[in-house]
Amino acid sequence: MSLVRTHLCSHVSNKQLEQQVIVNGWVNVRRDHGGVIFIDLRDYSGTVQIVFDFENDKENHKLAESLRNEFVIGVKGVVIKRTEININPKLVNGDIEVKASQLVVYNSCDPLPFQINEDAELSEKIRLEYRYLDLRRTNITQNFLLRSKANRIIRDFLSADSFHEIETPVLTKSTPEGARDYLVPSRVNPNKFYALPQSPQIFKQLLMISGMDRYFQIVRCFRDEDLRGNRQPEFTQIDMELSFTSPEEVMLICDRMMNLLFKETVGIKVETPIEKISYQDAIDFYGSDAPDMRYDLKLTDISEIFSNGSGLKVFDKAVENGGVVKALLVPEGGEFSRKDLDDLTQLAMTYGAKGMAWVKINENGWQSPIEKFLSDEIKNKVQEKVGAGVGDLILFGADSKKIVSDSLGNVRKDVARRKNLIDDDVFKFVWVTDFPLFEKDAEDNLTSSHHPFTKPIQEDLEKWSESNPTKIKAEAYDLVLNGVEIGGGSMRIHNPETQTEIFNLLGLSDDEIQEKFGFLIDAMRFGAPPHGGIAFGMDRIMMFLCKTNSIRDVIAFPKTQNAACLMTNAPSTVSSKQLRELKISLIENT
Ligand code: AMO
Repeated sequence: MSLVRTHLCSHVSNKQLEQQVIVNGWVNVRRDHGGVIFIDLRDYSGTVQIVFDFENDKENHKLAESLRNEFVIGVKGVVIKRTEININPKLVNGDIEVKASQLVVYNSCDPLPFQINEDAELSEKIRLEYRYLDLRRTNITQNFLLRSKANRIIRDFLSADSFHEIETPVLTKSTPEGARDYLVPSRVNPNKFYALPQSPQIFKQLLMISGMDRYFQIVRCFRDEDLRGNRQPEFTQIDMELSFTSPEEVMLICDRMMNLLFKETVGIKVETPIEKISYQDAIDFYGSDAPDMRYDLKLTDISEIFSNGSGLKVFDKAVENGGVVKALLVPEGGEFSRKDLDDLTQLAMTYGAKGMAWVKINENGWQSPIEKFLSDEIKNKVQEKVGAGVGDLILFGADSKKIVSDSLGNVRKDVARRKNLIDDDVFKFVWVTDFPLFEKDAEDNLTSSHHPFTKPIQEDLEKWSESNPTKIKAEAYDLVLNGVEIGGGSMRIHNPETQTEIFNLLGLSDDEIQEKFGFLIDAMRFGAPPHGGIAFGMDRIMMFLCKTNSIRDVIAFPKTQNAACLMTNAPSTVSSKQLRELKISLIENT
């Protein structure tokens, strides 16, 4: 028999005094005081205290004696005031309790691998193995209630702005977003494979060609890539596309969406319009295309000072070889210890730097390992250009542009942490715009900075496509929050000739283009409207809203670093019958 619930646990309050209520849930804690047994009953909303009194009701009191943590029960009873000493001001309903008149035990619970009602630090392994129990823990439950609310806010916002929610295929063809594909063999088409979408990019563009005008989807994407920090092999995007639009319009809509989302979920006001910075400035000043703008700490290019030779070989050579010398001013960084400086140097070296020169500006001049190689004139020039004064520290990078940006950009973040400049309660958004269309990979091949459908600036394309395509800028933009890329988008190419030209620049032959993207190029010939859009990483946004550093805290059933699910043991082997049906034979794992 099941008791039909009248209230959620935390909704029972002094408003129902002397009234009968029915609550269902899990035993959070049982306290046996001899003649009186107290149960904290828990459901997703919170808890309510139930009391079983031997004097009044021997039968139910006896049954209550058998209850243990996480038994599932239903209780009928009357809401009464707690006695003065039992009042718990920390709980919303800590002044009342339910005096039970009926108890139904729906299910018992085996000894638990960990206690649900305690805030103990648990290993990730055990949490993920028993994820359904982990999800019962109040803090974790709250993350998913907030995520559900966030989804609702986004859906309502976009629907009200004439975006249509349209689903796109999961069994599809490869969509190039820079990662490896997850492949699914087709039984009915032997030796052929579907790819799970890395994003719905191509389909949302086709929807614009279909005349849908504005599309959105809260959609799962799949990428087989190295899983660091805030990445999962399957993750969720808020995916949007608009016809007849501009970067400014897309950014404005997103500003309003972020403003609403942060206000309605965590009560935080996002300043709009969100500030914009060009990709080049982000790299020049912060050494990153996803700069954390909560603190200042800018890089200064001081290459010019070393362009005629200074006596300091590493700096002079860097400039001579077409690289740069940059300085990071750390105000009042003179207090950094030798160990701090060694740690920061090590950090710079993990990003390719061969070392990191530094100088502390003291009352009596420079204290620095490079001091003896430099004339007073050069020292003064450096100090002036960087704007350093007594008590400050300057850190230097001298190498190729990329190594200097990567290393000093990361040193900048670490300096901010060491100097307590990072306020976790501040949400600092910034749009990064004017990205280069292409970048070079490790083998010096041209690759798309975003994806190959990104629209180039037309004049750039005409000017640079033959001589130096890396100079071509794109109509692309990323939204960055506290140094994390939470979204990226662009205007798209809508004309078949330009799309073919871009594929050619990326090294695809006409046959390859036809085989991989022929349908898209064809579609562009049938009246493709100009269009553009963006996709946000929903999981990353939720990490901010839930104030957690782990992406796994905001995904109900996440994967480990090895892309495994510890609960279901996926991925797993399959039977030889299945393999035969798929015409797949396995080669030995080497
Ligand atoms: P992009 O590849 O930049 O763009 O992805 C958009 C956003 O998705 C999030 N993201 C991820 N989150 C968790 N785990 C991952 N493995 C992961 N990879 C990406 C990031 C990122 O900003 N089709 C384009 C969008 C467009 O052009 O409209 C795209 O997918 O927050």
